[in-house]
Formats: sequence, structure tokens, C-alpha cells
Amino acid sequence: MSACAGSMLNFAEHGVHLIEFGSGSSQKVRHLLDTNKNIVAYTAIDISREHLVESCARLSREYSDISVSAICADYTKEFNLPKLPFPKARKVGYFPGSSIGNFLREEAVEFLKRAGELLGPNSQMLVGIDLKKDREVLEAAYNDSQGVTAEFNLNILQRAVKELGVSIDIERFRHQSVYNQEIGRIETHILSTEVQSLDWRGKIINFDAGEKIHTENSYKYSIEEVHALASDGGYLVETSWLDEKSFFGVHLLALKE
Ligand SMILES: C[S@@+](CC[C@H](N)C(=O)[O-])C[C@H]1O[C@@H](n2cnc3c(N)ncnc32)[C@H](O)[C@@H]1O
Repeated sequence: MSACAGSMLNFAEHGVHLIEFGSGSSQKVRHLLDTNKNIVAYTAIDISREHLVESCARLSREYSDISVSAICADYTKEFNLPKLPFPKARKVGYFPGSSIGNFLREEAVEFLKRAGELLGPNSQMLVGIDLKKDREVLEAAYNDSQGVTAEFNLNILQRAVKELGVSIDIERFRHQSVYNQEIGRIETHILSTEVQSLDWRGKIINFDAGEKIHTENSYKYSIEEVHALASDGGYLVETSWLDEKSFFGVHLLALKE
């Protein structure tokens, strides 16, 4: 994003209304806001209200010439966009990272169709999609030596302890991500390292040694599959930006007429 952001949205004559699906801390969008001076409005959508309000308040202070709005919603469900005084601005959806890879393929198609309906005629989507690559590269990334992914994955157990009162020893579980080449996805699990039981409000859940909880999928796409996915979702790939190793791509999709 930092290398290519400046060339991504500099086409729309009447400005761009950028709409981010799952805006989180609205960090990646700054690359676009900093380098595309035709962005007149930014709408952040996130399910996490507190985080959303805080990030948008900060953004609105820092980018005072852009109209910033926030929608707390589940982007897989129906919701409306705010009515803004930029009727001619091109609506561009932004779905960075590779969040689309967390959907099953049919869910990703459904998401794109829904986005097209929400954004309307002449709209576009700027989508990050992780590309297929060697198993070794993928598995090293998801089992990173600094343990970042492991911490993120095992956090669900921390939350189960804190928020649901589940009684478990987290040390007896470990993170595991494996590339399922046949399906083309990273499958992430929490693996029980020994025979054990956990107690959730009197409900006992037993684990064998090596038994797994499947926590996440991350689908990888080839360039051809990106085009097919976009097409099934109602879009055509207009421009793609790849890194020098072709590990990852950001694609500008145009809604089909
Ligand atoms: C990995 S963060 C991405 C943050 C930001 N887009 C970025 O790339 O810097 C994913 C964000 O999506 C939000 N999210 C996940 N599922 C969602 C859903 N179904 N509806 C709305 N927001 C969702 C989460 O709350 C989180 O803030």
C-alpha cells in the first residue's frame, strides 16, 4: 500500500467517497488519504463500536478537509450508507489486508455482490487478496518466529477465560497453521498438547492429545482465480498491483454494467 497507494484512486473526476469494510484502527487507509488528494469523504464500517468511534475521531482531527463518518454494522448484513453532500463522487469500497480470504469462496462472492448493491452503479472496490505461493513461505508466515500469529490465535482462549469464565490452562494448548494445498487455504487450529478437560460453567469438554479446534481459514488465490472471484461477485478486475515477488495483490474492481 505504501508503495502504490498514490496511483490507486487518482482517476475520479468528481472525487472519491472511500468506504472501508472492517476499518479497525484505520491505519492502512492513511496511505490512500495521504496520497490521493481527490478523496472527499471516508466512511469507516466496523462491528467494534468503541474502537471505531475512537479511530474515526482521530482521523477526522488529522484529515480535517475530508468528511469522515462511521457506521457500526456487520458488513455481511444489510445496512445503509450515510447521505453525504457529494452526489457525483465515485464510491470506492476498500477491503485491505486479506480479510476476503477469511471467507469461504461462496461467502466472498456473496460479500462482493452485497458490496456492489450497497455502493451502486459506477462504484469500485479496492481489495487486497493474498496470492498462492509455496507452502514453505505460507506456513512460515503463519507460524512466525516472533509468535505474533500464535498470540493472535490463542487470544481466543484468553477471552474464553476472561469473558466466559472457562477454566483452562492455556499453556496446554498451542497454535498450528497448515497449508491445505488441495483447497488452497491456510487452516489455523488450536491444538491440545495433552489429554485434558475444560470446564465451562459446569459443561465439561474433553480433549485428546493432538485434538484441534479449527479457528480460522485464509484462502489464497491465483491471479486467474482473483479474476474468476471478481467476476462471480459482479466485478471486472481493472488494475492489479503486486509486490515484486507476486506474494500479494491489491486489485481495483469495477462493477459490471
Ligand atoms: C484485521 S482488522 C483490519 C483493519 C483495517 N482494515 C486495516 O487493514 O488496517 C479487521 C477489522 O474488521 C472488523 N470486522 C470483522 N468482521 C466484521 C464484520 N462482519 N462486520 C464489520 N466489521 C468486521 C474487526 O472488528 C476489525 O476491526
